[in-house]
Amino acid sequence: MAWSHTIWNMCFQKSKVMSDAPIQALIFDMDGVLLDTAHHHFVAWQRLAEELGIDFSVQDNEKLKGLSRVESLERILTLGALTLNNDKKLQLMERKNRWYVELIVDMQPEEVLPGVRAFLQTAREAGLRIALGSSSRNAGAILTRCELAPLFDAAIDGNHVTHSKPDPEVFLKGAAALNVDPSRCVVFEDAQAGIQAALAGGFFAVGVGLPENLPRAQFVIPGFEGLSLETIFEALTRPTT
Ligand code: BG6
Ligand code: MG
Repeated sequence: MAWSHTIWNMCFQKSKVMSDAPIQALIFDMDGVLLDTAHHHFVAWQRLAEELGIDFSVQDNEKLKGLSRVESLERILTLGALTLNNDKKLQLMERKNRWYVELIVDMQPEEVLPGVRAFLQTAREAGLRIALGSSSRNAGAILTRCELAPLFDAAIDGNHVTHSKPDPEVFLKGAAALNVDPSRCVVFEDAQAGIQAALAGGFFAVGVGLPENLPRAQFVIPGFEGLSLETIFEALTRPTT
């Protein structure tokens, strides 16, 4: 408790982030972090895999999380040892996206995962800068529909990057948009590829989910319900003994 308060006071004064605070910004992945859309991606990919006669399990899907649409398709085709031409791949991606969009089209603001909105609001009030760092090309529409967009200072998604996670591009662009050095930003991620991307970019990396799925994360949380900023700051800035 005492340590947590020390860190807190080091970072903030009168709701303003100090210019030398160790943490000044937060970058959030979207699918599986802010919303349960990771499950919808899985359902749509599984439907496609089934049509192609490829076995595709929850474990296979875990490795796809965070990857771009095209990378995900490539991995599924590799699982089935299938080689297809580019036109066919484009058709398949379009089909998967159509099914996925059918699943998310009626998403409501109430579907934002528990505690997320409150955590974002508290972070904003504390003066932290906030960005989205998602591989999804559907991210902008989803954030708007779920009334999360106004809580972000910047949003970088699959439309803005050429390299998919585990490349750090999406997070580096997020940090640049916020004008904060990566070493002072915390990335929240549910995907192994996203944790790798965060670490490769020199960010703090917090896993959202089960610790066994996110072994490289510096700290893992089950979700945002009841989570305080102090808990995150204390875990990441605790001196190593
Ligand atoms: C990531 C998801 O956020 O976005 C992946 O974790 C998904 O599962 C990727 O494939 C691309 O999403 P979209 O919406 O552009 O197909
Ligand atoms: Mg994700």
